[in-house]
Amino acid sequence: MARLLHHFKALSSFFFFLFYIYHNTAMATLNFKPIKANCATTKYTENSTFSTNRNSLLSTLKAKSSSSLSTNQTSGEAPATVFGLYFCTGDLSQDNCQACIQTAIKDIVDSCPSSKQAIIWYDYCELRYSDVNFFGVPDTNGFSMININENTTSSRPVEVVSQLVQEAPLAQPLMFKSQAFISESLYALAQCSSDLSSKGCGDCLTTILANIKACCTSAKGWRFLAPSCWIRYEATPFLQNLNGTSTSITQSYCSSHDFPASNGLNATAQLESLLSSLTEQASAFNGFYNTSEGEGMNKIYGLALCRGDLQNKKDDCQSCLKDASKSIVEDCPNKAQATEWYEKCFVRYSN
Ligand SMILES: *[C@@H]1O[C@H](CO)[C@@H](O)[C@H](O)[C@H]1NC(C)=O
Ligand SMILES: *[C@@H]1O[C@H](CO)[C@@H](O)[C@H](O)[C@H]1NC(C)=O
Ligand SMILES: *[C@@H]1O[C@H](CO)[C@@H](O)[C@H](O)[C@H]1NC(C)=O
Ligand SMILES: *[C@@H]1O[C@H](CO)[C@@H](O)[C@H](O)[C@H]1NC(C)=O
Ligand SMILES: *[C@@H]1O[C@H](CO)[C@@H](O)[C@H](O)[C@H]1NC(C)=O
Ligand SMILES: *[C@@H]1O[C@H](CO)[C@@H](O)[C@H](O)[C@H]1NC(C)=O
Repeated sequence: MARLLHHFKALSSFFFFLFYIYHNTAMATLNFKPIKANCATTKYTENSTFSTNRNSLLSTLKAKSSSSLSTNQTSGEAPATVFGLYFCTGDLSQDNCQACIQTAIKDIVDSCPSSKQAIIWYDYCELRYSDVNFFGVPDTNGFSMININENTTSSRPVEVVSQLVQEAPLAQPLMFKSQAFISESLYALAQCSSDLSSKGCGDCLTTILANIKACCTSAKGWRFLAPSCWIRYEATPFLQNLNGTSTSITQSYCSSHDFPASNGLNATAQLESLLSSLTEQASAFNGFYNTSEGEGMNKIYGLALCRGDLQNKKDDCQSCLKDASKSIVEDCPNKAQATEWYEKCFVRYSN
């Protein structure tokens, strides 16, 4: 199945970047249209015990959706037990999750009347029930979607998603992991349903990533939605929360020119010392610090800033600047000027 994805211009200015963080995180109106529904052709009879159990399962799931992003539940005694689950992508707010699941419950009843098994997929959630106990079984029998409008030759999307496929199974309790690289126009997630073990989650994600590699990686935007796990990459921002611990944002700017070959001085060592001093001082002094290192031609100026609204300012600021300092050196090796933006801080230096 193919789908059109809208274009989004790469964000480049810092102000647009801030605007994006603060306004996109509060973004509320989502579109809950089903992408696909799979309905078993085997039917239960109306007013049967199974029918009662299914309704009761759906009520339980509906109630859970006000407080959980992901759950699996059963209803009723054998042989009429109904097994069911839903999950919302881990970046969703609880309100949006609840709205998605409520819509899904209505739609699954309409789309799959009296089916003994059904699954319905949305952009942001999935709902599933069955008369068979499927809990713990990684079901990869899903489908892929691609952006048919644009291709890419970059290997980065697969690299980033491969990393998420490694990390998501260990990210308890949701088994959800996302990444946003704004400057690269690269947004991605991986997630499993809650009934899977970490091992099952890993197996599920590995299989659907192989499916994507076999069909879809030339497209600039793709996903694979299986009953038990999802992966998704887009060149456009689709993640709903770039603020939580589950998402990291990075953007770097590197000058094109290197540090001048210097008279015996080690620019890397000097830069590392500058960055470590910025990290120390900025987190100690109210989230802002500028300083310089070296003399004359070898002087490097540096600046660090942390966001003003951090909860635990000193620690958050310090750990953010630590990460940013590490990245700026890796992202801009030996460059004479560079800036690294993180969600909670930024750091900049120049000769
Ligand atoms: C961002 O994170 C802070 C705490 O780290 C939290 O209080 C706030 O609700 C979060 N905002 C969003 C939109 O998730
Ligand atoms: C199911 O029960 C309802 C009310 O309890 C009744 O109106 C309806 O006719 C029943 N349907 C069948 C197929 O028995
Ligand atoms: C993308 O690549 C596929 C083949 O890999 C080709 O069929 C398709 O026309 C290309 N689409 C665009 C928009 O270039
Ligand atoms: C969820 O699934 C796991 C097995 O995968 C199972 O042990 C657990 O009991 C299930 N939870 C509920 C509430 O049914
Ligand atoms: C410069 O310093 C860095 C870090 O301190 C070190 O890894 C590197 O080997 C040094 N390079 C030279 C040429 O001395
Ligand atoms: C920090 O920047 C100000 C100018 O905004 C400058 O006067 C000051 O000397 C700088 N501090 C250091 C330590 O470089």
